[in-house]
Amino acid sequence: MKTSITVSAPGKLMLLGEHAVVYGRPCIVTAVNQRMKAIVELIGEPTFQLEAPDVNITGYQKPMSELGKGDIPKGAKFVEIAVKNFLASQSTSEVKKIHLGGVKITTTSEFSSQFGFGSSSASTVCTIKALSEITGASLDNKAIFDLSYKTVLDIQGKGSGFDVAAAIFGGTLYYVIPGKIIESLKTDSLPLIVGYSGIKTDTAILINQVLEKAKKYPEVIENIYDSIGKLVEQAKKAVLSKNWQTLGKLMNFNEGYLSTLGVEGKKLADMIYAARDAGAYGAKLSGAGIRDCMIALAPKNKTQAVKDGITSAGGQVIDIKANVEGVGIEYG
Ligand code: MEV
Repeated sequence: MKTSITVSAPGKLMLLGEHAVVYGRPCIVTAVNQRMKAIVELIGEPTFQLEAPDVNITGYQKPMSELGKGDIPKGAKFVEIAVKNFLASQSTSEVKKIHLGGVKITTTSEFSSQFGFGSSSASTVCTIKALSEITGASLDNKAIFDLSYKTVLDIQGKGSGFDVAAAIFGGTLYYVIPGKIIESLKTDSLPLIVGYSGIKTDTAILINQVLEKAKKYPEVIENIYDSIGKLVEQAKKAVLSKNWQTLGKLMNFNEGYLSTLGVEGKKLADMIYAARDAGAYGAKLSGAGIRDCMIALAPKNKTQAVKDGITSAGGQVIDIKANVEGVGIEYG
């Protein structure tokens, strides 16, 4: 059995379908080239150790028998519960050795956990993939998805799992909850520009706000979810045929519905309108909304103008490449 392994998983950006995806409609997500890395080492003492300096976790350790118990700091939760869930799901002799020995995990991220790039899901996926490889369990991607998604739900209670799917499968995906459809859309890197507006609002809070609206106006909100689902179907075709102009239009429609759901956010809206005014095919928020990121799709000759527009509206442009590979072992 190997004693150390390094894996990495990409961050993600929701292209279309947020919120509606939680209620069974499809979404499209792309994996981005800012990655989370985890080094997983088997150690000689029966402790779980974690170094995750990006989320202020240093020198964290506890007995293996205490995994998942007690007060777990926020930055340690996903990795610790991922270890617990993986070990509970397997019973090979290699896994028993980890119970008796111990495991040390070090995570580092190329992106700030303040961006909604999915750092929690990516670190969960890295942990389960690394344990799966180091113990010889060699789980396939769907089994890694199921365990990772369970981990996220154990902690957050809510979420569609689209971010987990992106971290595992990479590329650009058409996704339906709870991993019922995870379809890879063969396409080129999308000409995406990303603008960051400020620290994201808690996703669970925003999901609940939309849920409250849906309770008050069930037919109106269900119709909006249906319309978002329909535009995602058209967007899928646009992605596959690389028809960026149509995809941009559909992004604009999607933003209108998100605004009706109440998650647009003033600064994000300013950045979105600035991107459109500067010649983007389309622009919308990406993720749960109110703050965090917006995305714009733009022709090459308008890229700089769109970036300038986002900056002049107070946003910070983040350079990314979309449609990159999913979780994998890092060699060398
Ligand atoms: C958050 O990034 C996207 C939501 O649709 C929640 C989810 O799908 O888990 C609001």
